[in-house]
Amino acid sequence: MTTPRLEGRIAVITGGASGIGQAVAQRFAEEGADILLTDLAPCDATVALVQGLGRKAHQMRMDATSEADCDRMVEMAVQVFGRIDVAVFSAGVKTLPEAPRPGVDPAKATQLVHMSVENFRKVIDVNVTGVMLGSRAVARQMLAQGTGGAIVNIASTAGRIPLAGGGSYCVSKAGVIMLTKVMALELAQTGIRVNAVGPGYTSTPMWDAPEDSDAYRRAMSITPMQRNGTPREQADACLYLACDESSFMTGQTLHPAGGQFTG
Ligand SMILES: NC(=O)c1ccc[n+]([C@@H]2O[C@H](COP(=O)([O-])OP(=O)(O)OC[C@H]3O[C@@H](n4cnc5c(N)ncnc54)[C@H](O)[C@@H]3O)[C@@H](O)[C@H]2O)c1
Repeated sequence: MTTPRLEGRIAVITGGASGIGQAVAQRFAEEGADILLTDLAPCDATVALVQGLGRKAHQMRMDATSEADCDRMVEMAVQVFGRIDVAVFSAGVKTLPEAPRPGVDPAKATQLVHMSVENFRKVIDVNVTGVMLGSRAVARQMLAQGTGGAIVNIASTAGRIPLAGGGSYCVSKAGVIMLTKVMALELAQTGIRVNAVGPGYTSTPMWDAPEDSDAYRRAMSITPMQRNGTPREQADACLYLACDESSFMTGQTLHPAGGQFTG
């Protein structure tokens, strides 16, 4: 029998209440990890999933954009589990809707020339600053432990493909890809690896466009496999980057995305 890939490891997951973060928690628990789940929303269902697999789970309500919350997240993990080995930063938001404004075509309201600076800042704050605050708080703890560790940031193929009307999101995810590279470089000699998963279209509450919608058709026009991914397919990529099988990888972004970027 093979040893579970994360046997006895302690994981911290943001965005753990839903979608990809929840699937990562389930997948990591299947491989032997105990987990601190964090989110703005309650993580009760994910806690139950992890405990149902025989692993320990705790949860903490936190706002990823708050430095104090990110520091408290690390403190709580250390308090209940003694250390952190792995962290996945999945908390994120998509481009936010704009309130109607005179003279602005509603179909173009989220384009960069029209969108409100408040919404732009909010998306950057959650998706980039939130990942920076969380991952550096965890990295500081790993440095203090002297144990090394694995950090996995959730980016998106949108960090590499410009999408009209999705500017704030695309810019934020390009930021996550570069943040991952810089932090990986800075920590390369410490045993702490920093990588990212950049999902393509994946069935979660964030991406639930019906198959007969224009949005879905546009998504499939850049997805050669002609289907959404599942949260578990994203979780499998996170597992690879979190476990020792990727021990020579740092600063990389994997794209489980149904063939985006093939041509
Ligand atoms: N679903 C997709 O097609 C897709 C594609 C590419 C990338 N992603 C990325 O995957 C990650 C997970 O998204 P998902 O699809 O599972 O969506 P989701 O909406 O199911 O999950 C996102 C979670 O993040 C939490 N969150 C949002 N803002 C927060 C904050 N400020 N502090 C703490 N938690 C916060 C939400 O409460 C939610 O539980 C996101 O970073 C998203 O951008 C998703």
